[in-house]
Amino acid sequence: MSVLAVTRERRAGETRVAATPDAAKKLIALGLEVVVEAGAGVAAAAPDADYAAAGARVAASASEALKDADIVLKVRGPAEEEIAALKPGAVVVGLLNPYQDRPLIDALNGRGVTVFAMELVPRITRAQVMDALSSQANLAGYRAVIEAAEVYGRALPMMMTAAGTVAAAKVFVMGAGVAGLQAIATAKRLGAVVTATDVRPAAKEQVESLGAKFIAVEDEEFKAAETAAGYAKEMSAEYQAKQAALVADHIKKQDIVITTALIPGRPAPRLVSAEHVASMKPGSVLVDLAVEQGGNVAGAQAGEIVETSGVKIVGIPNLAGRVAADSSALYARNLTAFVGLLVKDGAVAPDYDDEILKAALVARDGAVVHPALRTA
Ligand code: NAI
Repeated sequence: MSVLAVTRERRAGETRVAATPDAAKKLIALGLEVVVEAGAGVAAAAPDADYAAAGARVAASASEALKDADIVLKVRGPAEEEIAALKPGAVVVGLLNPYQDRPLIDALNGRGVTVFAMELVPRITRAQVMDALSSQANLAGYRAVIEAAEVYGRALPMMMTAAGTVAAAKVFVMGAGVAGLQAIATAKRLGAVVTATDVRPAAKEQVESLGAKFIAVEDEEFKAAETAAGYAKEMSAEYQAKQAALVADHIKKQDIVITTALIPGRPAPRLVSAEHVASMKPGSVLVDLAVEQGGNVAGAQAGEIVETSGVKIVGIPNLAGRVAADSSALYARNLTAFVGLLVKDGAVAPDYDDEILKAALVARDGAVVHPALRTA
């Protein structure tokens, strides 16, 4: 019987946990012995007693949880002390930020563990249940609107009262992928007037089906902007200039701007310039979901609300972590499905020819093997 461990997240501000008590039960049903570090789920409303009731063993420390573990589930990359406690040959799975956090990948590889990054799970139908980027982006998109509403000094819905009328807020969502679409839906529910933009033509119909207005530079490049994997390409300088002009005209009329644009493996595209920000009315709010990937908005700072001439730029990292109980539950389901590919009859036996495992595999047997990350 193989042992699966879940430890407390050690990154500052990380509230999520890689397995909920419910997930622990499912992992045990796969024939695994599940060990959870004490306190691992506390910030996600999952106390130790619930893990114990689910049949997991609660270990006093990370090193105790990890010493016999064949599989280790994490939200973010493990800390140095955890890596040092890993059993060589163990399998580590998490949102490891492999394109940007090379030192982490090298440290894990140096320990001789097998590394899978959930970000690299392909977007094929069979892997939908394992799509952690989507599950987390969905909640982040929702939460971005809640944060914007909190900072915005006015109401979002139109209100007609005896004392006068409150105008509906104008919300502009830039990047209409998973997070953006959920931001649109949330802003609509709150009564805002919503517009959205994206570079992928497929986004247009999705935006419109949510009742928002789609605006974009719809030229030949736009028609070819979606990759076979469903992601956006990095756009040409010429397209970016046209996009900036369109944004300039639209953004100055907006009250709230939510930016979610990302390109896998690349820094986030800069969509909102300092001039765009300066053109907005005092009291307007921008929330930059891409702040950890370099930011879509000029001047956005991770962990801060930057105010310039009355316009607030909100740069909250890890928005999904602000709905930790839900984001953990969804992520834990993604991981549980993934672990289903790693074990057979309660023992670790990955089929490395499986296309999902092949795509998500970062390192194995002391070598970084992912084609986009291999150095030699
Ligand atoms: P993402 O997080 O990589 O990017 C967010 C959004 O930013 C994307 O819609 C992208 O087109 C947009 N973007 C990139 N550069 C931009 C620019 N310069 N200006 C404006 N927007 C820009 O993407 P996400 O949210 O992970 O998903 C992308 C697509 O994949 C979505 O349509 C989603 O519905 C689809 N998808 C498909 C799945 C499947 O088939 N199994 C699963 C999950 C998502």
